[in-house]
Amino acid sequence: MIQIKDRFFLITTENSSYAFRVTGSGHLEHLHYGGRAELTDEKAMTEERAFAAGNLISYSKEHPLVTLEDMRLEMSGYGKGDIRDPFIEVIHRDGSRTRDFLYDSHRIINAPLFTESGMPLAHDDNGAETLEVTLKDKEYGMTLLLYYTAWADSDVITRRSVVINDSDDDVTVTRLMSTQVEFPDCGYRITTFNGSWVDEMNKNHFTLPRGQFVNSSYAGVSSNRANPFVMMAEPEAGEYHGAVCGFNLIYSGNHYESFSVNSFGKTRFLSGINPQSFSFTLKKGEKLESPEAVMTFTVGGYSGVSRNMHAFVRKHIVRGYWRDRTRPILINSWEANYFKISESKLIRLARNARDVGIELFVMDDGWFGDRNDDTSSLGDWYVNEKKLPGGLSKLSDKIHEMGLMFGIWVEPEMVSENSDLYRSRPEWSMEIPGKPHSEGRNQRVLDMSNPEVVDYLFGRMEEIFSSTKIEYVKWDMNRIISDSYSQYLGKDRQGEVYHRYVLGLYSLMSRLTERFPQILFEGCASGGNRFDLGILSFFPQIWRSDNTDPVSRRRIQTSYSYGYPMDTVTAHVSSRPNHQTLRDTPLSTRFAVASFGIMGYELNLSDAPARLLESIKKEVAVYKRWRDVLQFGDFYRCGEGDLYSWTTVSKDKSRAVGMLMQTLVVPNTPTHRFRARGLDPDRYYRFYSVAKEKDIRQFGDLVNTASPVHIKQNSIIHNTLARFMTMPGESEDTIVSGKTLMEEGVYLKQAFSGTGYNDQVRFFRDFASRMYFIEKVDPARENEEQ
Ligand code: DGJ
Repeated sequence: MIQIKDRFFLITTENSSYAFRVTGSGHLEHLHYGGRAELTDEKAMTEERAFAAGNLISYSKEHPLVTLEDMRLEMSGYGKGDIRDPFIEVIHRDGSRTRDFLYDSHRIINAPLFTESGMPLAHDDNGAETLEVTLKDKEYGMTLLLYYTAWADSDVITRRSVVINDSDDDVTVTRLMSTQVEFPDCGYRITTFNGSWVDEMNKNHFTLPRGQFVNSSYAGVSSNRANPFVMMAEPEAGEYHGAVCGFNLIYSGNHYESFSVNSFGKTRFLSGINPQSFSFTLKKGEKLESPEAVMTFTVGGYSGVSRNMHAFVRKHIVRGYWRDRTRPILINSWEANYFKISESKLIRLARNARDVGIELFVMDDGWFGDRNDDTSSLGDWYVNEKKLPGGLSKLSDKIHEMGLMFGIWVEPEMVSENSDLYRSRPEWSMEIPGKPHSEGRNQRVLDMSNPEVVDYLFGRMEEIFSSTKIEYVKWDMNRIISDSYSQYLGKDRQGEVYHRYVLGLYSLMSRLTERFPQILFEGCASGGNRFDLGILSFFPQIWRSDNTDPVSRRRIQTSYSYGYPMDTVTAHVSSRPNHQTLRDTPLSTRFAVASFGIMGYELNLSDAPARLLESIKKEVAVYKRWRDVLQFGDFYRCGEGDLYSWTTVSKDKSRAVGMLMQTLVVPNTPTHRFRARGLDPDRYYRFYSVAKEKDIRQFGDLVNTASPVHIKQNSIIHNTLARFMTMPGESEDTIVSGKTLMEEGVYLKQAFSGTGYNDQVRFFRDFASRMYFIEKVDPARENEEQ
């Protein structure tokens, strides 16, 4: 809801309000971002001033008390007294960088689906009410538009901006932010998520000192180095209580999130396109648009931010056919075969996948051109008939005949130097003519700022996607940008390359997703190197990391969960030892961790022994039974550290799945509890797990404590015995109130502690886990229990 009284603006969601006013001088003074406020609160929220503080610049003789350096502002220019990190920077023809944007007018409009330059915006099926405020810099003939939209159902407010050159001269914009929020205090706790390939999303949590902290990407993509999702909290906030703000940006390129505390103890948050090396020339009448920033406020702690962001992303970011549809379980050929694919290998893999209940077969890299390793063929999007005689359609037909869906991998934005495309169109590659080029995975980046390149890629992809029945596409992007230079843009426009790359990418994604609305697209960039709301506006799911080791993954997935819902993140069960860490973990743990999201498989099922296939089959069946909850439920972080635990709960709180995972065994600690979250405290639930038989070899030499004859480890007798004999596994089955399950938790069967084993003992070794299923019991049974 947007309310306006005189020149006081109040934007309200269900549990939050955002307020600002126009000062007598025409500046937009920020007044509040926090809990709900009322239209009557303007005076109370406004800082009182009788004299200007010493050594500050007064805006003008007429407005001596307007000292911009210590004011909270909706946007700040440079040169009129505010010496903090600015919202906008423009160089005018006379060389001046001073900006003076003052209020001109406002109106209410309906939010469009895209900006005019094609960047995706948050959307609403019914159209969202948006406040547009116009500011003018009269001295230099510039207009700045600020947009505010309230997303009441998810307690989110979005902001963006547009700068227009109304003057006769060309101007150079060197910075345009999407949002600026000012907080009256300092000492806040900041959280950012930083990482690298296979080590995405390390949580960085610290108290903001005076000065400035910047979380940004300069890689050309949103990057795994610094995800654009960040949080800021009052110091005492915890997982389930306290005031916390979450911020994100609907953008896939270089981003910038800056937190700074000025000398007056006020905190400024800015976010938008990274201004480093950015410059954008505007001729008379031209405009530059910022991407849209997403902001949420809650008093429900970090979990509250996640609730809001999850609801917002699900409803207002993800679009199209797959948004609310459960996603298929896939098998991906990458870790099974890498580049060494052939029709027979793929068919064998698919057959075993089909037999265990998998629904979608995905052929990853290696199917086109002369692609046998990563040194060639990107750009040559023609099927390799030596590997796949009869082409894509023959393979696709065979896969469909087996009852599976069919999907492929592509990496459209890239070109190998060793490719026909590069040989014929070298000027389409981003590189500085005549200068040496720096390499990344032996490939170069196509110049997406060039519309001809975008058109070409649309044509190639359209031909492939329509050449046969393709239901899924994995869209990869495996290097960051170096030597950023567009041979299409003139030498004076090179500061625009990174941003225009993103616009070109969005144009391509937009055309393809419109042309193929039912294809399930999955974003990927060497795992999570481009995990952001821009990609999610086109593709409903993203491969979050090339690391499939569950010990690494539980942390990575936990971190993503702060800002992104489970139906946007994909996770695969892979082989042992793990290909990225060489760690050996139980299948049940690989399954449990991957289950919390869009689960798939990525291992060589063709070589898998019958027993493994049998176990996978059972797990696939479990996932299918709980898939709606696991993909679309409300996800709660219930514990980290040595014992990780998660719960995901159906919308109506009738069903939930929990997971408990151990890192390393702590000797002699048999007692563990499982505490859920998000349930109905007033209802009763059945809490249960499924017993799993244990291979006797897992007990090693201990088997001799029970055997009448001595069994030598790994002997023929030992292995033969293991084929026919198993040890029982424990299970849980109890009725418990939602209140107790959440507050006290359920005490689990004792963990193995070296003193004995039977079916009442939890076999819980290093990296072990359990999944717990929670179902509301009918009222009659509730009464019985009371
Ligand atoms: C990087 C991706 O993240 C992997 O899953 C795989 O698709 C490879 N690229 C293929 O080259």
